[in-house]
Amino acid sequence: MSSTFHVRGGRPLDGEITVRGAKNLVSKAMVAALLGEGPSVLRSVPDISDVRIVSKLLSIHGVKIEHDVVGGTLHLNPSNVERAHVADIDAHAGSSRIPILFCGPLLHRLGEAIIPDLGGCRIGDRPINYHLDVLRSFGAVVEKREMGIYITAPHGLKGTKIHLEYPSVGATEQVLLAAVRAQGITELTNAAVEPEIEDLIAVLQKMGALISLQTDRTITIEGVDALGGYEHTALADRIEAGSWACAALVTQGDVFVRGAQQKPMATFLNVFRRVGGGIEIREDGIRFFHPGTPLRAIALETDVHPGFMTDWQQPLVVALTQADGISILHETVYENRLGFTSALNDMGARIQVYRECLGGSSCRFGRSNYNHSAVVSGPHALHSADITVPDLRGGFSYLIAALGAEGASTIRGIDLIDRGYESFREKLSALGAEYWEEGR
Ligand code: EPU
Repeated sequence: MSSTFHVRGGRPLDGEITVRGAKNLVSKAMVAALLGEGPSVLRSVPDISDVRIVSKLLSIHGVKIEHDVVGGTLHLNPSNVERAHVADIDAHAGSSRIPILFCGPLLHRLGEAIIPDLGGCRIGDRPINYHLDVLRSFGAVVEKREMGIYITAPHGLKGTKIHLEYPSVGATEQVLLAAVRAQGITELTNAAVEPEIEDLIAVLQKMGALISLQTDRTITIEGVDALGGYEHTALADRIEAGSWACAALVTQGDVFVRGAQQKPMATFLNVFRRVGGGIEIREDGIRFFHPGTPLRAIALETDVHPGFMTDWQQPLVVALTQADGISILHETVYENRLGFTSALNDMGARIQVYRECLGGSSCRFGRSNYNHSAVVSGPHALHSADITVPDLRGGFSYLIAALGAEGASTIRGIDLIDRGYESFREKLSALGAEYWEEGR
């Protein structure tokens, strides 16, 4: 049972924290290790529950894992990959979306894959049609069975041409993980090119893969017969860094995020500065602070890289409730990622959501009934509330709102935040936040 978390807000967050490797790269690099014939070493691994889930999924498939939690190093030895028991796979149903990425590696290693029902945050329908289309296009046979999805490749996986109708991160990773050891050449057009994908490509190249990325979102992969292990340090978690940056702004604080990297955060840094936040980019991290002058309202659209990440949207919206004027936000990646705003309104924010595409362009959700645009008017002081975490990023946004609100707030379901924010309790303490917890 999840504990109940209480935060007394109204104090600036002040101090230094460290971010380690990106959740959305580390989990995929762990899956990539399955493809190697030798052991791999992954560094800068955060201690988050998503890493523990993927470790268990790999272990039930025979991968030997040693995790130095403090040092952040994972040793993965896939020399004895084997079929997992269906009951063990089933035990992970609903816990993560990563199992779908096991398909390519398991098909290469074992000729079959069983995928349980997927989990992940409820921020839209999150279908897997692109993943299944990709696998079929490589020659895999996909059957829906009672225990999940059963996939085989009776004639092996063969290189192919794939065009994604939307540059999905997961579908691009699916192609990479299947194509590197498929027979022949694969050409993927309209691929996602997030920094985490470039880092996954770097991991696969270290293993012996032949992958080239063109400037027009085309990725070409030449399949090879065998791959080795890798040694890699994961790129830093830019979502976590951006989340703490927004917390600094909302609490009128000053936070140095050690490990935050400028280039993958360039779009965020521009927006943060336009809103009126202060930044100081150093070699070893980035300092984010409230400069003491009023924050400015902005118009913003989320997009695939190099656009403004959807995962930064929820923390930033909390900051926009404190900006002077009317901000307009258009969420174009997930159809249902603004539900968290109603709790912010209960805390005193003024946010209205709309079905229409507000802002520059119309998106895939424009002619449907999804509230995917928002108008945020500010500044309106936030007051304490009793709130329940809806999803990972929405949950951290509630934490930010509670830190910026006068009085003591109660946050329920806080354990969800452990999925993607390493040691957030210790980090809150290091930054001088006042909180206490029951039932932990
Ligand atoms: N989509 C489909 N069909 C598919 C796959 C995706 O319609 O088969 C749609 C989705 O419903 C969504 C859009 O395509 O509307 C983009 O989804 P994408 O596949 O790019 O996302 P993902 O791979 O499921 C990853 C991250 C998310 C992050 C998105 C976008 C991981 C484990 N998750 O999800 O991170 O928001 O890319 O950058 O890497 C998070 O960390 O909190 C999180 C949700």
